[in-house]
Amino acid sequence: MLRSRIIGTGHFLPERILTNTELETMMDTTDEWIRQRTGIHQRHSAKDGEGSADLAYPAAVQALEAANVDPNDVDLVLMATTTPDYIFPASACVLQEKLGIERAAAFDMNAACSGFVYALATANSMIQTGMFKTILLAGAERVTNRLNWEMRDTAVLFGDGAGAVVLRAENGDHGVLTSYLDASGGENDLLIWPAGGSKQPIGSHNHDSSDCDIRMRGQDLFKRAVIEFSNAMKQALNGTDVSLDEIALVIPHQANIRIIQKSAERIGMSMDRVFVNVDQVGNTMAASIPIALDQAVRAGRIKDGDLILFAAFGAGLTWGSCLVRW
Ligand code: ACO
Repeated sequence: MLRSRIIGTGHFLPERILTNTELETMMDTTDEWIRQRTGIHQRHSAKDGEGSADLAYPAAVQALEAANVDPNDVDLVLMATTTPDYIFPASACVLQEKLGIERAAAFDMNAACSGFVYALATANSMIQTGMFKTILLAGAERVTNRLNWEMRDTAVLFGDGAGAVVLRAENGDHGVLTSYLDASGGENDLLIWPAGGSKQPIGSHNHDSSDCDIRMRGQDLFKRAVIEFSNAMKQALNGTDVSLDEIALVIPHQANIRIIQKSAERIGMSMDRVFVNVDQVGNTMAASIPIALDQAVRAGRIKDGDLILFAAFGAGLTWGSCLVRW
């Protein structure tokens, strides 16, 4: 059977680290509160003038090198991001140009924090139809330059970064085995960034309105995340003969350590089989899973033939999962 195999991974985190202690000087918060409620100790912050494609570029170079793939052999550049460089063109086109890829299809996907899982499922379908053979998929977010540092309930959560994978069409048992995607648009008020899109462009009339900030119902979101995260993990195994006991590593979207722990507990998955880096990077939205994946690969936590489960939940609401044989 034709499958998409992940043949290379990479990630990039900006050099500048923003610690909780530093945030204490910027808003009414404490390191202790942030650690206890979220598990986050620090996050990375990109330089002024850097966009998501600038962060995706080093991650993509690393992934292409690891895969031993010439950039010009890539047929599709796909970027999962909620923070594209421009309204248009897509950041995937900016990344294509940076990589010196002369011709390839290129587009962005926005499924918020579920973006990488949505994009992986999409890329896999395109590979399975025979449309593309080699896909570069990057998840990248440049969010810290748009946060309101007076909004302590949201600003402490997010960080910048990028991760990338190279997918190759291959016949056999390795690669994406299943994907599960779901959404509930009726609950979009749980997490929304109202202004800045076509419905409410930002201008002199509203630039200091609260609509320009992330609006979040934290506790409701927390509860929905735990339910749908744990359901998504089980859904990926539906129709397969794989049991949760056989999963070597779960790589969840890194939003909050308590969401990850509670979701794992709900399905009886021990935390030693769950990859966690939220303490070091915070919530990097669509970039979180590919960053964590590359760190897990480079730390030797994934070996040939391992079953890996990706699961994500985010604004939309959106959620989903993918089961992969490494
Ligand atoms: N520092 C100190 N105090 C704070 C901070 C802060 N950074 N932020 C909020 N508080 C205060 C509140 O004002 C409130 O004070 P009050 O009791 O005097 O009114 C108090 O802390 C408790 O606030 P709660 O909102 O009840 O705190 P909670 O325990 O729910 O934790 C949190 C808040 C961390 C946001 C939690 O609800 C959460 O993690 N929700 C999920 C949010 C999330 O992950 N969003 C990311 C996108 S979605 C995704 O990626 C899955």
